[in-house]
Formats: sequence, structure tokens, C-alpha cells
Amino acid sequence: MAEELILDTTLTKAEKYRQLLPQIDALTTGEPDLVANLANTAAALRQAFDFFWVGFYLVKNDELVLGPFQGPIACTRIRHGKGVCGSSWAQAQTLLVPDVEQFPGHIACSSESKSEIVVPILKDGQVVAVLDVDSDQLNDFDQDDQAALEQLMQQAARWF
Ligand code: SME
Repeated sequence: MAEELILDTTLTKAEKYRQLLPQIDALTTGEPDLVANLANTAAALRQAFDFFWVGFYLVKNDELVLGPFQGPIACTRIRHGKGVCGSSWAQAQTLLVPDVEQFPGHIACSSESKSEIVVPILKDGQVVAVLDVDSDQLNDFDQDDQAALEQLMQQAARWF
């Protein structure tokens, strides 16, 4: 496909995801390189929604290690069960955090991050990575984000 996203700014958020997901699928189908696919996915999500930070942490031994991302520099390593990302890994489920200050143990890579959603990528029942999306607005994520990002991360599992 052309390396340009079609993004209709008049759409609702759910509609934007419906427009974006097939384009990410087209962009990554046939590309075997994990880093390339994660990098373009992070860029596409940030471009479409102007999120504060979008990126991946990859499971390496007993830690999450920073992978491809878009946004300000971030924490490099997160322990199992720590922060929102490490908790999502430990629980193998999505965590939607409306106010990061209310999340016990939240890891503040930036004081500008106010709300967050973390979606694990499962391969053969094991978490292999997590997608972390941060907003500089409180309560910026809802069920539309969760449903679409979980669908996207199910597609992403095949890159691992
Ligand atoms: N806030 C995350 C850490 C990663 S940064 O937000 C990019 C956490 O609590 O796990």
C-alpha cells in the first residue's frame, strides 16, 4: 500500500479505529520484521489520534524492555508486576487507567501523562509484549479504545 494513512478527522473515535485497523493490517502484512511492524503501528496510532505517547515494551527474560515507540523518551526497563505495564503483563489482561495518580505503583515516565491503557500481546497463551498508550488528558480512554486495541494486538501476535 502507499505509505500514507487515510485519516478522516470528521469520524468518531470508533469509526477512526475502523478506518485505521485495516490500513495497519495492509502496512504490516507480508513484512516479517517485528521491529518494522511495531514501529509503524506505534506511528500510525500516534498519527491518527495524537496520543501523548504510544509504544511497545517487549518481554525479555524477567523484564519488559522498551521497544519501538512514538513520543518523549521513556523508562527503559519495567519489572514483572510493576507499574501499569508490568501489571498488565502479570495479569495477562488489558488495564485501563483513567487517572494514573490513582493507580498504585504507576511508573511516571512523564509527569504529563494523565491516563493510560495497556494491552498485552499474547502468543500461545504467553504475554510476549505490551502496547502502552498514554494521554495528557484525564479519562481519555474507553471501551472503544480497549476493543479496537485488543483486536489490533490479536493481529500483532502473528509478528512474534
Ligand atoms: N506508565 C507506565 C510506564 C511506561 S510509560 O508510561 C511510557 C507504567 O506505569 O507501567
